[in-house]
Amino acid sequence: MKKRKCLIAGNWKMHKTPQESVNEALKLVSMLDEKDFEKYDIMIAPPFTSLSLVSESIKNKNIALGAQNIYFEAQGAYTGEISAQMVKACGCTHVILGHSERRQIFNETDDFINMKISSAISAGLIPVLCIGETKSERNSNKTLNVLDKQVQNGLKAISVSTGNELVIAYEPVWAIGTGETASPEQVEEAHFNIRKLIEKIYNKNVADNIKILYGGSVKSGNAKELLSLENVDGALVGGASLRAEDFTGIIKA
Ligand code: PGA
Repeated sequence: MKKRKCLIAGNWKMHKTPQESVNEALKLVSMLDEKDFEKYDIMIAPPFTSLSLVSESIKNKNIALGAQNIYFEAQGAYTGEISAQMVKACGCTHVILGHSERRQIFNETDDFINMKISSAISAGLIPVLCIGETKSERNSNKTLNVLDKQVQNGLKAISVSTGNELVIAYEPVWAIGTGETASPEQVEEAHFNIRKLIEKIYNKNVADNIKILYGGSVKSGNAKELLSLENVDGALVGGASLRAEDFTGIIKA
């Protein structure tokens, strides 16, 4: 029996029009049953443009809605940006922050991500803070240092009291969308260290409650092994979350 209820989260990235998103969300609803919800919390993060419609179609269905990003200001002259309050009003309970694609393609720094985490929590959203090392960082034995720094800087001055205000997702950059997954030993080592660090920053209660997800090429074929690891409390799924058949395959695995 797992200590913490697992969260299986789907990150749809820049895929699907509003109508395609609704169709997929409805398919997902039809494929999940009570047993799945007893075992897992489930979240999907469609693009901004689909949030309102998807929110309507999963109302009262036990599936949480997440945004894939926010800006840290509540409103103002920030052309093209979206605030925590706005996605909350579209029905979101979660927001993915610091994804490696945001860090690498859009040059997001730990400090910038930290401001978004603060804004998300103030708005009543649960941030899913993504961290992870590159291949060269792993090869030069820097993984745990990199993760420590991302957690420490990302959570600077963020107050957390129960551990349920926040989710962390460990996603090795080299495992995202590559079909390559970290080994169970690598995953457990990273998760164990993240939890220890959370205990140091906050306390044991927060560390015992916080969900630490693994992400990076999670599929139905490898989900069971990864999710059975002691310190893995769920998965953040990209490619395999785009089709309800594949996503429920992971949940039912
Ligand atoms: P992937 O993506 O499952 O396609 O590797 C994971 C992620 O980016 O969160």
